[in-house]
Amino acid sequence: MKNTILLSIFFITAIFFITGCNGEEGTAYPDAIFRNPEYSAEERTEDLLSKMSLDEKIGQMTQAENSVLFDNKNDIRKYYIGSILSGGGAGPRGQANAKAWADMYDEFQSYALRTRIGVPMIYGVDAVHGHNNVKGAVIFPHNIGLGCTRNPELVGEVARITALEVAATGIDWTFAPCIAVPRNERWGRTYEGFGETPELVAMMAEAAVKGFQGANLSDPETILACAKHFLADGGTMSGKDQGNALIDETELREIHLPGYLSAINAGVGSIMASFSSWNGNKMHGNKYLLTDVLKTELGFSGFVVSDWQAINQLPGGFDAQVRESINAGIDMVMVPHDYREFFKQLKKEVEGGKIPMERIDDAVRRILKIKFQMGLFENPLTDRSLLSSVGSKEHREVARDAVRQSLVLLQNKNRILPLAKNLKHIHVTGKSADNMGRQCGGWTITWQGESGRITAGTTVLDAIKNTVSPDTKVTYSSDGKGADIGIVVIGEEPYAEGKGDSNDLDIDEKDKTAIESMKKLGIPFVVILISGRPLLIQEVLKDSDAFIAAWLPGSEGQGIADVLFGDYKPTGKLSLSWPKTMIQIPVNVGDPVYDPLFEYGFGLTY
Ligand code: BGC
Ligand code: BGC
Repeated sequence: MKNTILLSIFFITAIFFITGCNGEEGTAYPDAIFRNPEYSAEERTEDLLSKMSLDEKIGQMTQAENSVLFDNKNDIRKYYIGSILSGGGAGPRGQANAKAWADMYDEFQSYALRTRIGVPMIYGVDAVHGHNNVKGAVIFPHNIGLGCTRNPELVGEVARITALEVAATGIDWTFAPCIAVPRNERWGRTYEGFGETPELVAMMAEAAVKGFQGANLSDPETILACAKHFLADGGTMSGKDQGNALIDETELREIHLPGYLSAINAGVGSIMASFSSWNGNKMHGNKYLLTDVLKTELGFSGFVVSDWQAINQLPGGFDAQVRESINAGIDMVMVPHDYREFFKQLKKEVEGGKIPMERIDDAVRRILKIKFQMGLFENPLTDRSLLSSVGSKEHREVARDAVRQSLVLLQNKNRILPLAKNLKHIHVTGKSADNMGRQCGGWTITWQGESGRITAGTTVLDAIKNTVSPDTKVTYSSDGKGADIGIVVIGEEPYAEGKGDSNDLDIDEKDKTAIESMKKLGIPFVVILISGRPLLIQEVLKDSDAFIAAWLPGSEGQGIADVLFGDYKPTGKLSLSWPKTMIQIPVNVGDPVYDPLFEYGFGLTY
């Protein structure tokens, strides 16, 4: 008898040990409160938290990149990885269409579900202007253009559709909206912000968050939003990416904080810390701003995620970096490659008493609550019924409308615009006229973006041809002799963070040549500028008759032709002050001396 009892104790212990440590199948505590959707997200969170080991908690705070996990999928179980991301361009291996994304998601998720408790992982991407890593997805204008629409309903609709396309591929979370307030056009991320004023950014932040997250995060067509980058990423000295914002707290709060207030009021579930510093101190270690201001004062109840390897930029060794960032208030750490070291180090810090257990519980509580609210425990896998909507005609129509509304007409001598659709001969030139990659810019298919036919859509040239009458001759890459009207499409090469910083915002040589050759034809001509920020255009304005700032319109170039040929009147208003010269930058509305080429809010119509 005694032996039997001992034997059963042995077996029970053995089974507990096996299911409790490894080889687990996600079934622990089958009848627990946390498994029951009848309970609130808060109740389920508390119940789950009380049952988790330190290892499991640390896993929830860890975010690794898909590229590393492809060959280490079992690490998802071993380290209880709570979140996965795709950095810019980091799609599934091989064919990167929407279905392949969904397959990749489901496969990773199946590993998370086979841990002891089976807490689903949450997958994040930079869907910053549509589901932009995915071939064939609709690509919307970057935020700088959306800011010029002054239309929050439209921005909400753009976010709603982006969420739908993201959700269609299984992905749960976008690192968007970027609610930076770009104050210096040298910054290569200027285009990621809606504009230079806190009012505009706050208005669009609310619209975007509501669009992504919908009324209910558990709706299968919504995703989690992430307002970024907290705080003052757009306020760094000389517009340096990841630089230092040398400003006092009044300016910090007046210019850079309102967007966060608005995002929090709209219910944003996550916020990303900024690589940058405030008065010399890295944001990732700033407890005052991350905890006292953001969480306590503003009452942000979601979780704070770090930026890419950003804790590594804190002073000291890895131990100090982990300690400082977590104690400052980072809840989830984007350690794309170093998740194993992070796991070990964080555990050591907690066991050594350097990070209080309450801090860990607070971080995990914030993350789990969102996961419950999203309904991830009930529906951890991709809802394939949405797949066919990716890049649909209907979505492209909304993007086309966004393009129309984002265009800013800066000049229209002799009312040359709108153009007649039945002109005899239109001559088109310029390196950006027939280039999908250039009109999409950075964060499209690849991280930095690239020139060429990178995804499906309509170029400006395609759009012009689609719009004119069948008898109109449209020439491109020819000398254009005999044309009645010219259209020159100029602009920047694609770029993203880091690479986009520039001290020279002059029009490039190729574009100057294109304009020179147009001038030689002696015909009236229109210039369309495809760029992530205002460039120095004083000369070009003198030469040309009409000038349109088209920003980075994305895949639906048709919206440009709609305005050029008068189907729609231009309504866009500048979201940034347009500088005259480099030395004039930074120039922002409200400056004591304010004399830009075009003021904030400028925009002509017909
Ligand atoms: C960027 C973030 C982005 C993250 C993930 C970072 O380098 O600063 O905006 O969300 O990478 O791709
Ligand atoms: C970016 C990622 C990108 C990676 C490429 C990071 O800084 O944020 O999105 O995939 O660099 O190395």
